[in-house]
Amino acid sequence: EIRLSLVGSEMCIRDRTYTLLGVLLAGCAGSGREPLETVVDKALAGAERQTLLMAEKYSAREGRLPRTWENGEDVSSDSRWWCSGFFPGVLWYVYENGRNPRVLEYARMFTARVEREKHTTDNHDVGFMLYCSFGNGLRLTGDESYEEVLLTGARSLATRFKPEVGLIRSWDHNRDKWQYPVIIDNMMNLELLMWAADRSGDKSLRDMAVSHADKTLKHHFRPDFSSCHLVSYDTISGQPHLKQTHQGLSDSSAWSRGQAWGLYGYTCMYRLTGDARYLEQARGIAGFLINHRNMPADGIPYWDFDAPALASTPRDASAAAIMASALVELSGFVPAAEGERYMAFAEKQIRTLASPEYTAPAGENGGFILRHSTGAYPFSSEVDVPLTYADYYYLEALTRIKRRLQP
Ligand code: GLY
Repeated sequence: EIRLSLVGSEMCIRDRTYTLLGVLLAGCAGSGREPLETVVDKALAGAERQTLLMAEKYSAREGRLPRTWENGEDVSSDSRWWCSGFFPGVLWYVYENGRNPRVLEYARMFTARVEREKHTTDNHDVGFMLYCSFGNGLRLTGDESYEEVLLTGARSLATRFKPEVGLIRSWDHNRDKWQYPVIIDNMMNLELLMWAADRSGDKSLRDMAVSHADKTLKHHFRPDFSSCHLVSYDTISGQPHLKQTHQGLSDSSAWSRGQAWGLYGYTCMYRLTGDARYLEQARGIAGFLINHRNMPADGIPYWDFDAPALASTPRDASAAAIMASALVELSGFVPAAEGERYMAFAEKQIRTLASPEYTAPAGENGGFILRHSTGAYPFSSEVDVPLTYADYYYLEALTRIKRRLQP
């Protein structure tokens, strides 16, 4: 049996689901640990309490969305910031799990705050902004007005695809340095294009997404399956003219969140296309990450895999949350023993993130669920702080695990 659905979904092969369920349940037998199901349920209940507090706090701040919380102060953004869709998405996942009508009201309210981004054509983040907010909203409510927003947004994103290069351009800044910059993060915008192609019948949107994934696979990755952050392409030849980092330690390092975006992106593109090359890429990235000598024992990466593996080096909970969500999905696409390894690693990450070290008590942490994420270390920006995308992918991972645990 194969099931396909919209955001945050996984292709579920029934026999394998049961195998994994057995492993997950057996994993805690005799270990004295709380069953994973209990960990997940408590985490979701705590997330609802915390998210309601955040929504109440921001409800009267017209047009504002939570971004982070630093030195005891709220840091917010308007919808233009690349993260604007994540808090609405957090509300949708909380609603999906608790079906609280107040949460639904807030999910609609904060989703509406992002709508104008459907016209954004000056950066690639439209997929993040709209698919996490309106995409989840559509999946959970079937609200047809959300479809129009997503289709308009996909067409806006498509304006950034240049056929001569075969990729979606990420940024327009730093034109003196980069002719046509594409960052690994951009893999996360493809799901919106794939959905829009399917919904509208416009195959060209799918072709763009596939071309982007193919060229990224060819030029962003190293033989060990790590990826560099940014590849800039020559606009005439369509070939890379520069490979650099922007948010990582160095041009040759493995910036942790970038690795997680790649893992998530290729797992998702495999789900959406069935192309075995994407599955192989995702498996390769998973192996690189899980077996990395600098991966801490608790499963939460330092902000860059090449940063010194020291207690004082900041972690990135967002990278762990993205990775956990992707591994849960990937585990459904591979032979059972391999899938069990991915699930075991995701479980470790979730148990750590759900522990008091990472999960803040209700009312603390500015209303964010998780602590200890790193936004852009080289710019001393958002280091060891809560971030909306850590919360979003954590909730997605919890939701995916919960679905898996339900017989
Ligand atoms: N997409 C930007 C980041 O991951 O920081």
